[in-house]
Amino acid sequence: MINKKEIARRRTFAIVSHPDAGKTTLTEKLLLYGGAIQVAGAVKSNKIKKTATSDWMEIERQRGISVATSVMGFEYLETKINILDTPGHQDFAEDTFRTLTAVDSVIVVIDVAKGVEPQTEKLVKVCRMRKTPIMVFINKMDREGKDAFELLDEIEQKLNLKVTPLSWPIGMGSTFKGVYNIYYKNLHLFSPGKQTIEESIRFDDMNNPELENYLEQDAEILREELELVQGVYPPFQKTDYLSGEISPVFFGSALNNFGVKELLDVFTEIAPAPLGRESDVRFIKPEEEPFTGFVFKIHANMDPKHRDRIAFVRVVSGVFRRNTNYLHVRQNRMLKFSSPTAFMAQKKSVVEAVYPGDIVGLHDTGNFKIGDTLTEGEVLHFKGIPSFSPELFRYVVNADPMRSKQLAKGIDQLMDEGVAQLFTGKQSGRKIIGTVGALQFEVIQYRLEHEYNAKCRYEPITLYKTAWFVSDNKAQLEDFRARKRGQIAVDKEGREVFLADSLFSLQMAQEKYPDIRFYFTSEF
Ligand code: G4P
Repeated sequence: MINKKEIARRRTFAIVSHPDAGKTTLTEKLLLYGGAIQVAGAVKSNKIKKTATSDWMEIERQRGISVATSVMGFEYLETKINILDTPGHQDFAEDTFRTLTAVDSVIVVIDVAKGVEPQTEKLVKVCRMRKTPIMVFINKMDREGKDAFELLDEIEQKLNLKVTPLSWPIGMGSTFKGVYNIYYKNLHLFSPGKQTIEESIRFDDMNNPELENYLEQDAEILREELELVQGVYPPFQKTDYLSGEISPVFFGSALNNFGVKELLDVFTEIAPAPLGRESDVRFIKPEEEPFTGFVFKIHANMDPKHRDRIAFVRVVSGVFRRNTNYLHVRQNRMLKFSSPTAFMAQKKSVVEAVYPGDIVGLHDTGNFKIGDTLTEGEVLHFKGIPSFSPELFRYVVNADPMRSKQLAKGIDQLMDEGVAQLFTGKQSGRKIIGTVGALQFEVIQYRLEHEYNAKCRYEPITLYKTAWFVSDNKAQLEDFRARKRGQIAVDKEGREVFLADSLFSLQMAQEKYPDIRFYFTSEF
């Protein structure tokens, strides 16, 4: 029997934000509460961002570090927490989207001065599509920023989220006094520069004159603002949060470790335990006895001498066990893993059993690709890890004819990792690499050289978008294929895509062939 308590006590989530809002700092503080790290600064190095220009050597260096911080598991009181790290750099947005398929909720960090920034908008949009429960942490309250009401308005408008504050700030910047926790009904005072956690003072009744003792003239402002909050925002209902309809908001300062414990406490109390996942056959519930899981991320080993990789598997149901045969559904073969890794306290260690919601790292010599499903024998595929039509395209050309085999293998494996997408022209046989960011082209070139001993160069191609296409109308399909012969390619799975060189040509095709359906994500 699967132990339901083990499922119920797990929380698997990601922290998302625009670079610099404070995701790393918050992650680090959360880890401190779990005793997962002893010193601040341990997570800091995991940052593929600061340099907006292409600095791929730096990325390589950081890629090594980020294996360790891809998943950070720790115990906090009775709860097992798994934080899944997401790259900050926008060129790696697709990595982040995929990681979001493996979490059950997210915490969005917003800088109080900067408000809602573009990267946050994009990421929240993906969460909303999936109805992922979202909590918002407004960070850097120790600095001057936007008025709380204004900021909440901005969040509602730009992120299209309904919010309800569960804590409320008292002043900000140099006059920041702390927060009133609406959820726990207590006052939490801020002392700048002090990182110790101070006792909260319970205030069930805001009219209690003792409030003045702590806040002086700010007490009255707080009363008025809380009244306004009550009038404007709906009362918090856990069910609305869990269904993704309302997002609770907290205020604090990650750097000062202020408001972080409260966030964590409320989070562990209300955030969802591991949820099931939809498959092409049926919905899989976590408490089902047989193990199922899917690969959402693949990380290449940094040591070029050992070209093995780690496939990150989210356990959906049952218990994953070491040295047990599991079906690799896509390849229709049984595989057994002798050294599955768990990610606890930033250390990797071999585990015997892994529960739903947890992530297990499997050593892989090239069997896996993103989206692969593992089961105890049932043939099913988990849904929801689509590839998006890339934004940038280039022809990839072999620059060392003696090493074409290595090049093919390297490209193949990098595509399985989800670094980019490969399309092969049906008529020309030319290979096209499509990415979401310019950095990936350099990463691919660099990694091919260093890990596969192969050289490539790129040639420009004018491409607006690739669109997967299908139709039941055979005549239209044949006509389209014949007329667009030079503009049709196949993806790695052998599915046809239309290489539209402009928006105009795409629209023309859509008009001329009304029975052909064009898709811009691979899952349709
Ligand atoms: P990110 O992962 O979202 O990109 O952000 P990160 O945590 O790296 O934070 C970005 C910057 O904001 C850092 O400063 C960090 O110290 C600062 N910061 C985070 N939380 C707070 C806060 O509550 N208050 C204030 N005032 N600053 C905060 P940096 O100078 O870029 O880096 P560092 O030199 O401090 O490492």
